[in-house]
Amino acid sequence: MKIKTRLEINAIFLVCGLLVIALTLFFSFQQINEAMQQYMAADEIVQSTFELNIITGDYLLHQEKRAQSQWYLKHDSLSKYVTDLEIKDLEDQSVLDNIAQNNQDIEDIFSQLVTSYEGQELSEGETALQGILQTQLSVKLQDMVSGASLLCKAAQERELTVIQTSNLIITVSIIVLTAVMGANSILIIKSIAQPLTKLHEGVEKITRGNLNHKVGSPVKDEIGQLSRAFDQMTASLKITTASRDELNKEITKRKQTEKLLREAERFAAIGETATMVGHDLRNPLQAIRFAEYNLRKKLQKDTSQLKSIRSSIQYADQAVNNLLDFSQDRSLIAVRVNLSSLMNEALEMLQIPGNVKAVNKIGEQLDVYVDPNLMKRVFVNIVLNAVQAMPKGGTLTLKTRSVGKHIEISFKDTGTGIAKKDFSKIFDPFFTTKSKGLGLGLPIVKKVVERYEGTISVESQVGKGTTFTVRLPKSREKGGEKR
Ligand SMILES: Nc1ncnc2c1ncn2[C@@H]1O[C@H](COP(=O)(O)OP(=O)(O)OP(=O)(O)O)[C@@H](O)[C@H]1O
Ligand SMILES: [Mg+2]
Repeated sequence: MKIKTRLEINAIFLVCGLLVIALTLFFSFQQINEAMQQYMAADEIVQSTFELNIITGDYLLHQEKRAQSQWYLKHDSLSKYVTDLEIKDLEDQSVLDNIAQNNQDIEDIFSQLVTSYEGQELSEGETALQGILQTQLSVKLQDMVSGASLLCKAAQERELTVIQTSNLIITVSIIVLTAVMGANSILIIKSIAQPLTKLHEGVEKITRGNLNHKVGSPVKDEIGQLSRAFDQMTASLKITTASRDELNKEITKRKQTEKLLREAERFAAIGETATMVGHDLRNPLQAIRFAEYNLRKKLQKDTSQLKSIRSSIQYADQAVNNLLDFSQDRSLIAVRVNLSSLMNEALEMLQIPGNVKAVNKIGEQLDVYVDPNLMKRVFVNIVLNAVQAMPKGGTLTLKTRSVGKHIEISFKDTGTGIAKKDFSKIFDPFFTTKSKGLGLGLPIVKKVVERYEGTISVESQVGKGTTFTVRLPKSREKGGEKR
């Protein structure tokens, strides 16, 4: 049942109950009023009859005109009370009729008495008649008094009955009204409070993002309708959210593709420039190297300036090689190479400063399938970065580990570490924190390692050091020669 209907029932019951109480009070007052009027009129009749009885006695004693006229006056007022009295009860009406008849009779009897007293000499028979008339008058008056007393009593009883009946009706009405309204109110509270709490909890869950939660109840009232409408709304919201998520995914995918496209374009442009610069620098470098060699021969000794020229040539050579490696997409060579020998060759290519201790823990028996020249460049770049990160000296530990189908080669230094803000950029081409750096070392490392189906990861702590870990597949197939 709807809450509105329940509230309407409550209102109807309240109005009906109040109406019953009001009508009961109205009719009770009316009946009590009537009973009181009857009582008062009957009481007047009793009083007047008593007085008439006294006046009769007075007249019979003295036969005075004053008492006679008093009697008639009193009788007139008594007659008025008798005729004015209205009675609905049939039994009481017959009592009243009797009183009215007696009233008529006493007037006749008194008139006869008055006539008999007005005669001079009374015969014996007339005196006897007077006695009879006096007795009749007294009996009739007595009869009237008891009749009127009966009417008084009946009026009192009726008043009492009316009061009791109206009390009963009002009490019953109040009990019925309280019971019905109370029960209905409890039902209303139950049908509002409990579902509202449930709805509130459900809405909170949905607000927290659980769009699968249902709050709908089968109840047919307004809250039931509201909860079902809420479920429909959540369902539409779910559809909208799902399509929005799809759209977001699509947008993200497109953005990634665009980024890759832009990066590819950028790499192509960088590659072109790198090839040009690399070629242009290679020949002058070769000439400088040749000139240094001749100078050394001519001087017959190696000076510190010559050493500096050679180290600069080596640095410039490294940069040119990096530029060319980055720009060229060479065809992939994968031959079996011993990892330990490869690392030794790479280390020989570098002049590791005296303050840097190199700890080589590379396993002797490990082989990988790679292009030895390219992989050497990978190792050289990582080791060079480590050495450059330890200007005040430190330890470089090289280790290998076999992990399933892969070999892990780790390069751990005790250098400066990588700042948090730079961490995500170190593999970007041309990102460098060095004044003389090109920022091509790590991008080449990553490119080569990934070409051999490998991965590179890095862990670093500022002030404590950095560890680069290269993961390469053990098998030839993964190495890529067959592809
Ligand atoms: N072992 C390391 N310790 C601290 N920082 C490092 C280390 N390796 C790389 N980096 C940081 O990553 C940056 C990029 O290195 P990357 O080798 O690509 O370029 P580079 O060394 O600056 O220049 P290039 O290698 O071209 O001469 C470096 O500039 C440096 O800031
Ligand atoms: Mg470098």
